[in-house]
Amino acid sequence: MVADGPIVREFEAEFAAFCGVDHGVATSNGTTALQTAFEALDLGGGDRILTTPFSFIASANAIQLCGAEPVFADIDPETYNLDPDAVVETIETYDGAIDAILAVHLYGLPADVERLREIAAEYDLLLIEDAAQAHGATVSETRVGAFGDAACFSFYPTKNMTTGEGGMVVTDDGHVADRAARFVNHGRSDTYEHVDVGHNFRLTSIAAAIGRAQLEKLPAYVEARRENAARLTAGLADTPVETPIEPADRRHVYHQYTIRTERRDELLEHLDAHDIGAGIYYPVAIHEQPAYDAFDVSAPIAEAATEEVLSIPVHPSINEHDIDRIVDAVRGFF
Ligand SMILES: Cc1ncc(COP(=O)(O)O)c(C=O)c1O
Repeated sequence: MVADGPIVREFEAEFAAFCGVDHGVATSNGTTALQTAFEALDLGGGDRILTTPFSFIASANAIQLCGAEPVFADIDPETYNLDPDAVVETIETYDGAIDAILAVHLYGLPADVERLREIAAEYDLLLIEDAAQAHGATVSETRVGAFGDAACFSFYPTKNMTTGEGGMVVTDDGHVADRAARFVNHGRSDTYEHVDVGHNFRLTSIAAAIGRAQLEKLPAYVEARRENAARLTAGLADTPVETPIEPADRRHVYHQYTIRTERRDELLEHLDAHDIGAGIYYPVAIHEQPAYDAFDVSAPIAEAATEEVLSIPVHPSINEHDIDRIVDAVRGFF
């Protein structure tokens, strides 16, 4: 079957096993994975989902698309992920009227999900992981995807593994997995029976076949990214740029290798002139996007980050010579 066939089921099972959870439900992309997870967890109209303003806009859009309201808490300036203290403060500001936390593992570095899980338990909230950028990243040896009530991945071409377009919801909860599987397939429970109103968010068999091959290669891709990151960090030591940190218990998978400097815009121009493809993720915080005009948010740490971060190449296809050239270009600038 070219559409939703047995290969998709195999990819779901293999990817869930890779994450150390019981169930996977493949989706058409990472955004629909988030929408599907919210739906399967019964989050929607009237609910509030707390998340980071420093992410790709899909994280917050998916919250709005399920009918819920995104609430933003500020980030930690060193990890760029949700700051657990800011999360608690924000929940208190809302008198506890928050229903879930969506934790994004930005750039491939896991958020502090152990703390966030404690906070979720204390305030009786659901925890969902947006692991779109973090396939295979770990916290205390446990892979991301296994910390939340559900977790969502993207297999977009720029991600650490790809299916062209594609995504996955993973969860240990069989009921949530069943609901998710129905939601991506028109609420179908049997060939001609539809028990819920659902979407067509299915992954194709062709994409799943690519995903199975990519999953086998993922550990080598991650290793290459980590080696490239280590060489960049060593090369950039004692320059004025801040290099990425990796807290002791976390394994970064370097979807992006993001440095920080007050002279970001000048450095970007300099790297462009040297034919080095650097990029800014993200130049505008989500709450500062025109589509979020109606949201009144204070997140000064996220806003400051948008002015100073710069991601330089770290992907598995660059070699030591490329990295030395990047390092020389950055050093030359300063
Ligand atoms: C953090 C984050 N969440 C969600 C998404 C959405 O994934 P997709 O582009 O596959 O819809 C992305 C992908 O760009 C992402 O980086």
